[in-house]
Amino acid sequence: MMRTPILAGNWKMHKTSAEVRAFFKEFSQRTQSNWVRADIMFAVPYTLLAVAQEAADGMATIIAQNVHFEASGAYTGEISIDQLRDLGILGSLVGHSERRQYYGETDDTVAKKVTRLTDAGMLALACVGESRAERESNQTEAVVTRQIQSIFNAAKSIDRLVIAYEPVWAIGTGLTATDEQAQAVHKLIRGLAREHFGEGSAAKLRILYGGSAKPDNIAGLMQQPDIDGGLIGGASLKPIDFAAMIDNVTQ
Ligand code: 13P
Repeated sequence: MMRTPILAGNWKMHKTSAEVRAFFKEFSQRTQSNWVRADIMFAVPYTLLAVAQEAADGMATIIAQNVHFEASGAYTGEISIDQLRDLGILGSLVGHSERRQYYGETDDTVAKKVTRLTDAGMLALACVGESRAERESNQTEAVVTRQIQSIFNAAKSIDRLVIAYEPVWAIGTGLTATDEQAQAVHKLIRGLAREHFGEGSAAKLRILYGGSAKPDNIAGLMQQPDIDGGLIGGASLKPIDFAAMIDNVTQ
């Protein structure tokens, strides 16, 4: 079963409107015909969703970095699914480790967001991953299993669900997981998907790796049988790097 790879940039709290326009101008000049072999996405700050959507001009799908699970209400500073849709935005990251670490995101709030997004026919790109302490105390499997079970239980449909495995110790540190370390966790996740949704759905589920993925290590990761793409932070900020990664994945 061939799964279409996904290369997704996560711009975190970077860029202004002018920088977004400049990015896509240069990005468009690097576009290759091979790129149709991958789904290209960018998760951008709320204030840049509209300008990115316009500047990307169909070259990439623009998604949010977070969304609230309630439809509306007294939640100052939050954004709803309908408000994303209003801009033509049809997906969001959910449960990125920075949201879990700094903003109190829990398995429970992640689950609610996955339910609402998948119920609304929106893409939920849900992130999981263990901390350095958890890896060093051999809890990687237990932690990822707990996070994934919660997401799978919450998903109304697996068709609009994508998983990103991002070991926290590899994010922004330059310490990429080895191909083997990443593959072992991706295999675990696909096994859990098989138990939960059955063989056919598990074979279709796309599982991305994230954590210091770069032009020079993406190809090795992509050769692993259960790695279907990347969620890229730092190396997605410059068109030259991100284009090189897409070239690697689509060759
Ligand atoms: P880096 O690629 O900068 O390590 O970030 C990974 C990440 O958190 C993507 O969501």
